[in-house]
Amino acid sequence: MTEDENWQHTAGGDSLSEDEERILVQMGLTGSNRRSFLKQVSAASLSILASTYFTAEVMADSIDNLPENPAALLNAVKVNLRVNDTVKPLTLDSRTSLLDALRERLGLTGSKKGCDHGQCGACTVMIDGKRHLSCLTLAATCENKEITTIEGLAKNGKMHPMQRAFLTHDGFQCGYCTPGQICSSVALLEEAKNGEASYVTEDLRDIKANLKLSEEEIRERMSGNICRCGAYNNIVQAFKQVHSGNDKMPTWEFATAEQMQKAKNA
Ligand code: FES
Ligand code: FES
Repeated sequence: MTEDENWQHTAGGDSLSEDEERILVQMGLTGSNRRSFLKQVSAASLSILASTYFTAEVMADSIDNLPENPAALLNAVKVNLRVNDTVKPLTLDSRTSLLDALRERLGLTGSKKGCDHGQCGACTVMIDGKRHLSCLTLAATCENKEITTIEGLAKNGKMHPMQRAFLTHDGFQCGYCTPGQICSSVALLEEAKNGEASYVTEDLRDIKANLKLSEEEIRERMSGNICRCGAYNNIVQAFKQVHSGNDKMPTWEFATAEQMQKAKNA
């Protein structure tokens, strides 16, 4: 076996794909450097490496260096995205998620990528006033829709009342889930105003507009937004403040040692 055949064999594949070849060139790996590198990685790990480079290039190298040539995109489509009252014309791969379009193409990094699988709510934005998971929404389906992200909530330099309430009630710790929590809360205010039912609505026949949501309702309706820091109690208080218009701070009651003992024995 020649030396070249040997390294291809070691890498576990017949030959390198175009993407893999391109990556190795970008990494400055040629000749013997390349051979010793390939001896140390499996074909599988090279493919994983390739997909990262490939995705990054399809989306954008950087905000200042967007791919100008749509030919570089697969399945390119032109989409006019209306985000936070501004229309942004974009040429995108038709499979681009709204989250990636916002973050990678428009530089709106407030919406967070937590799971990218519709499970954490960190990417929540509003589309035509309704909350949506932007990681599960194709950007190409959002033409002519009004998208509001966390960046669009403050008006004239003033925070949205929900943003202020989150600050007042300490509704966050690390802040990673917070943009999604706030967008979800703002849309929830409208759902309550419109009298939309939830899983814990007691009587679906008796549901009216301007619902007064109980804590149980708030928790249920916000359950798609996960907070790993566990700021849930304070998030509920923040929502309640804006929902009720009552900005009284909650008073917490702590159990006495005697009460705790009693509860233990019960
Ligand atoms: S990133 Fe969209 S739900 Fe987690
Ligand atoms: S504040 Fe940290 S994840 Fe919610």
